[in-house]
Formats: sequence, C-alpha cells, structure tokens
Amino acid sequence: MQDANSFVGVFDSGLGGISVLKSLVSELPHEQFSFFGDSLNSPYGDREPDDIVALSRAIVERQLDAGAKAVVIACNTATAAAAATLRNEYPNVPIIGVEPALKPAVQAFPQGRILVMATAATLALEKYQRLEEHWSGQAEVIPVACVGLVDLIERGDVESHEIRELIERHVGTYRDTVDAVVLGCTHYPFVRKVIRDVVGDVPFFDGGAGTARQLRTVLTARGLLAPQEAMGGVRFSSSKPGEEELTLYRRFYDINLET
Ligand code: DGL
Repeated sequence: MQDANSFVGVFDSGLGGISVLKSLVSELPHEQFSFFGDSLNSPYGDREPDDIVALSRAIVERQLDAGAKAVVIACNTATAAAAATLRNEYPNVPIIGVEPALKPAVQAFPQGRILVMATAATLALEKYQRLEEHWSGQAEVIPVACVGLVDLIERGDVESHEIRELIERHVGTYRDTVDAVVLGCTHYPFVRKVIRDVVGDVPFFDGGAGTARQLRTVLTARGLLAPQEAMGGVRFSSSKPGEEELTLYRRFYDINLET
C-alpha cells in the first residue's frame, strides 16, 4: 500500500533525467523526489532491449523496496524498452515514463518538418516506431540517432568544441531547414544552446513538462499527492561511486534550462 507522505523515485541511465526532475519539482513542489542516475551503466542507448529492461527492473525494485509511492522513468530509452514490462510486473505501482514530445511538436507545426533527436535504442524500439507512424502523416518527421552525445554529457560537458562538432556531424545538415526540434533523450536539454546554434533558432520540445503533468494526474487519482503543507525536496544517488558524481548531478540540477 503506497503512502502519500512517501517519496517519488526518479531514475535515468545517468544525469539526463535531472532535466525531467526539474520539471517534476516545478510542477509538484511539495513532493520528495529521490533521483537515481545509473551513470556506471550509461549509456543505455547503445544497449540491447533485454539489457535495458534488466537494468531498469533492478532500479525500480530498489526504489520500491525503499518505499517509493511512484516511479518516474526519466529516460526515453528505458521507457521505450521497459515501461510496459515493468507496469505488467508492478500493476499496483504508478510507473510514469517519458516519450519524445512528437505530439505537441506536430500539433504546433502541422505539415512542418520536425527533427527528432534521440538515442539509437529509442528510435529502433517499437514504442517510438508506433509514435512516428501515428504522427508522420501530419508532418515530416526526421529521426536522428545522436550516437556518442550522452557519453560527452555524462562527463559534465555541455559546450565544448568536441560536443559542438559531434552535434554538427549529426544534425548540421538540417541547419535552417526544420520547423521544430524534439529532444527525445533527457540528456539533450542540457546541450540545447549548442543544438540551437547548429540547427537554428526554432522551438524545442521535450517530454519533461508532460511527464510532470502526468505524474500529478496519476498521484491525484490515487490519493497519493503529498499534502500542501509538506516540505518537498530532492535527494541524489548514483551507481557511480564517489562524492564527485553527486556534485556533478547537483551542478546539473542548478543549470537553468529555460534560456
Ligand atoms: N537519457 C536517456 C534518454 O532519455 C538515455 C541516455 C542513454 O543512456 O543512452 O533516452
């Protein structure tokens, strides 16, 4: 039986999910969030689906054992690979995932050209394939697997020459030719400025705000929202040992993603 006073578990393959965490805190400031980054096993985006399911399952199990009242999979890759399986395995636990924000992008730009940046695994999985199939009649959807990008961001790099070059290599060819960009990996909002420099000054869409609203809806429906007088908060942990990693997570949590 879940308890409204308990915390919400949030996880990602690494520190990318902190971009979602920021949306969660802003939508639900009275909640306690326990964020886990699996940076030791990152990136998930180059792994096989079974492997991603096993890693995600182990994290969810641990968060539930620790008393989480709900779990947010703050990772497009883990959501695409594992959310359905985990919901089957834990039918009584609210498990909220994140998916590439193709719907709001297409709705904002009907018949437009929409660039979707995500990991190779996300784009190859059926969940994304269905999403693209659904929306591609209403816009031109251009998926690009940005291999290597998560590795650089995991090092704490958000604006080096190397990262600029990598982004240029992946999406430079679309400069000034797309109407919107969907950031389909939760790491990418941290390098949005560089992506904008490369692709052009167009609207960006990510799944953070939608996921936060969905969490609010689900907690409300189950009577699990923290009381209004509760002091919310955030706690960080990582599979990568050492205080240095947690310092990096806190630094990313302090990055302003609104600009
Ligand atoms: N941040 C994750 C996502 O949203 C995955 C990054 C990775 O480990 O490849 O897809």
